Amino acid sequence: MRFEGDPMDLSISPYLQGNYAPVTEEKDFGPDELKVEGQIPKNLLGAFMRDGPNSAFQPNHYVYPLDGDGMIHAVYLQDGKAAYKNRWVETSHLQTERQFNRTLYGSVGKMLPVPEEVIEAGGEPNPVRNTANTNILYHGGKLLAMWEGGFPHLLNSDLSTVGLYDYDGALQPGDALTAHPKICPATGDLISCTQRWDSANYWVQMFDKNAQHKKTIEVPFTRKGIIHDLQITENYVVIFYAPAFHDMARAMRGEDPFSWEPEKGTKIFVIPRNGSEDIVTYETEAFFSWHFCNGFEKGGKIIIDYVWINSMPFTQTQGTGVEKQPRRMYRMELDTKTRSVTNEQFSDVFCEFSRVDERRMGKSYRYGFAASSNRSWGDAHGYNCTGRYDFNTGETVLHEYGSEANAGEPVYVANPDSENEKDGWLMCFVYNPGEGQFLSILPAGDFSSGPVAKIHIPSRVPNGFHANWMQGLTL
Ligand SMILES: [Fe+2]
Repeated sequence: MRFEGDPMDLSISPYLQGNYAPVTEEKDFGPDELKVEGQIPKNLLGAFMRDGPNSAFQPNHYVYPLDGDGMIHAVYLQDGKAAYKNRWVETSHLQTERQFNRTLYGSVGKMLPVPEEVIEAGGEPNPVRNTANTNILYHGGKLLAMWEGGFPHLLNSDLSTVGLYDYDGALQPGDALTAHPKICPATGDLISCTQRWDSANYWVQMFDKNAQHKKTIEVPFTRKGIIHDLQITENYVVIFYAPAFHDMARAMRGEDPFSWEPEKGTKIFVIPRNGSEDIVTYETEAFFSWHFCNGFEKGGKIIIDYVWINSMPFTQTQGTGVEKQPRRMYRMELDTKTRSVTNEQFSDVFCEFSRVDERRMGKSYRYGFAASSNRSWGDAHGYNCTGRYDFNTGETVLHEYGSEANAGEPVYVANPDSENEKDGWLMCFVYNPGEGQFLSILPAGDFSSGPVAKIHIPSRVPNGFHANWMQGLTL
């Protein structure tokens, strides 16, 4: 008989198998150990880093994409050469499990009480695991592994973990900092938000370019929504409040904490960044979204490009397949005079993990990029292409890495010697059966001849979540 807390049957989750399966080792490879096809652009100095779930111990329950211990995979580039490293984020939950050599905590979809002997031994008493598995960001000299349910973890450039980071006390106990802040290209400010497990409210948080806290704007809500990403424009912060809810009291009783109530529609909140004007709410039919692409203001309208999903793409119940429902690039226009909303599909390509040249964050722009697919998928969804979405021409262009390949979030890396969107590169980890694992460097302006460089990694890099380019960061 299986007891709650015992390791689960892995076969019921496609997101723990194939290239979703965790790796068991931390590795280091220097330039002599990495085979490079093509040429790494010599003017790139910094690191490509990606976070993702990588359970250290066999879990007792697993809700993709919400669970799994965070692991960072990093490729450092300098003088046209590369080095690789992967490390777990050493959270207090993971360290406690290491001490007991087994899984101790439940999942975000099925909480378990922390065993008495763990608390008596001084282990982490909080049943909510800070996974640190969602995003990794470098801002104000701080390298942070982020998860939207708690504090970020501060890391060193060699991926060793310093510990939880509260921005010198700006974050209060219980504050949960989003994994999707945006950096304003005009000011260098980090526009972020906090939510709490014990409140439905939402707080926009701003930090200056030196990571010093600058401003808080409170947004009152009556019910805790699942709000994953935020978008900035020149004057506003825009968030989607979909009818997707999480009830912590139900989670603590071991019940399904998630609910999807489409009759309530999706609300769009437009929050003035200066904090002094009223927040304006727009309403439309229900949809869910994990990720924005970009947003900007033009002629009395606020234009938002994002990845649309029909409904909440996860559940406590294993193996439903709900995670792989189609996603599409959409353009939403909010008319600030009439308060009307138009929301139209931009492309019929299956996509997720949308990104942009971040020098144009919040401003008018031409190209969006996203992990994209030109095939249908079986047990797990996946993306075998990098897609370029041209908002000037309406055209979608794909670069396919292989029919069975899986390509991660494409991060736009600016060419330090050019302001042109076309002159940068898209970097992502790719796993292609038969070819192996590599970091792809694809020219943003020319998808036709493929990557200018493939940096082959001798060990596996599982599919993961968000990545960023850390300009100037070295080992
Ligand atoms: Fe995300």
